[in-house]
Amino acid sequence: MVADSVPPMNRSPIDVAFTLNGLEVAISIDPAERLLDTLRYRLGMTGTKEGCGEGECGACTVHVDGIPVNSCLIPTYQMRGTRVRTVESIDPADVSALLGSGATQCGACTPGVVMTAVWVWEHPELLESHTLRQLMAGNLCRCTGYDGIIAGVGQTLEENGR
Ligand code: FES
Ligand code: FES
Repeated sequence: MVADSVPPMNRSPIDVAFTLNGLEVAISIDPAERLLDTLRYRLGMTGTKEGCGEGECGACTVHVDGIPVNSCLIPTYQMRGTRVRTVESIDPADVSALLGSGATQCGACTPGVVMTAVWVWEHPELLESHTLRQLMAGNLCRCTGYDGIIAGVGQTLEENGR
């Protein structure tokens, strides 16, 4: 079920501090609260989307210490001392190729696609052992048929010197 607010707190709150897009965050949360809900409904980072809520679609992809993760699966308390990065930290100019390639239609998958693309361009060595399509396989899209996404991400990598 897709949440539209932070779920009511049913347990004693716990304190968590981490870095979000370069800024320190310190909050009290329900121990079971998902990172996705914390980002969207407690911290206003609504760029991160919920698709399946089950770790299948990748719409909720964010980076934790530089690694893309499904924020719908991770309890926020596990973020203690980590660096969390969301799509709000990305300069739209860096991913403008996605807009012109047919990679975005409804846009629900786009923030997750962007975060995985950023991970690939920050780790170009991944392309020595994997195809771009393999690296993007965790981001499902019900609209585009994927060719536009792969073309747009590939062009984005080229424009960023990868
Ligand atoms: S909403 Fe997290 S993987 Fe689909
Ligand atoms: S553009 Fe609609 S789900 Fe990907």
